[in-house]
Amino acid sequence: MNLHVFESYEEMSVNVAQCIIDLVKEKPDALICLPGGSTPLGTYRELVKAVQEGRVDFSRVTFVGLDEFVGLGREDEGSCQHFLFTEVYGPLGIKESQIHLFDAKASDLQAECRRIDELLFRRGPLDLILLGIGVNGHLGFNEPGVSFDSYCHVVDLDEVTKTVGQKYFKEPKQLSQGITLGIKHMLEARKVVLAANGPQKAEAVYQALRGEVTPSLPASVLQTHPNAHFYLDKAAYAKVEETR
Ligand code: GLP
Repeated sequence: MNLHVFESYEEMSVNVAQCIIDLVKEKPDALICLPGGSTPLGTYRELVKAVQEGRVDFSRVTFVGLDEFVGLGREDEGSCQHFLFTEVYGPLGIKESQIHLFDAKASDLQAECRRIDELLFRRGPLDLILLGIGVNGHLGFNEPGVSFDSYCHVVDLDEVTKTVGQKYFKEPKQLSQGITLGIKHMLEARKVVLAANGPQKAEAVYQALRGEVTPSLPASVLQTHPNAHFYLDKAAYAKVEETR
């Protein structure tokens, strides 16, 4: 595992953004998966700045969404897609034809899983997948107990995820299921970048890096990936540092 630790969230964000920019410069038609969540917001703002300054061109990149709350779509504030369109695709001027997201409102969610699986089998593997980490160690909606053998799937959300997920919504929200890329898509990606900041992530980061590789802590599977990078601020790194 490659560790990159930074003084602040801002510094972490600049460096995660640079990692994406470097990839796109090297491979302008890269296939990239970006997550929603609070963690990557600073990174996305840096990417927008880089495009405005003409430092990178995303016009040939293909984007795949990581996950979504079942029943929510692009127009629903708090959904992953709403966030991605507002913070990334819109400001970066990404065309609809470049974006592949789950339709989490579809009546046949298994068909949605197959559609994204097929895209990744055809166009993949992912050149880069950016991930956050849940306080319960989840990756996307690969919740504790997930099979490491899974591609796209629909999942009953963990109680922790339902509670923590309220932060994305203005009003209390009934969250029950998610649809997500599977751990196998992550393991097959050429490069994995996991970003985490803040003291609330310190335990999950510690378990992911130093604990046993176990489905109980899904992010621990990244210990088996040959090109996985953790980008952390000091607070998220604190427990690893403490036990060195
Ligand atoms: C959420 C999302 C993930 C995200 C993770 C961390 O529930 N399903 O895609 O990466 O949990 O979220 P945050 O960055 O808001 O802490």
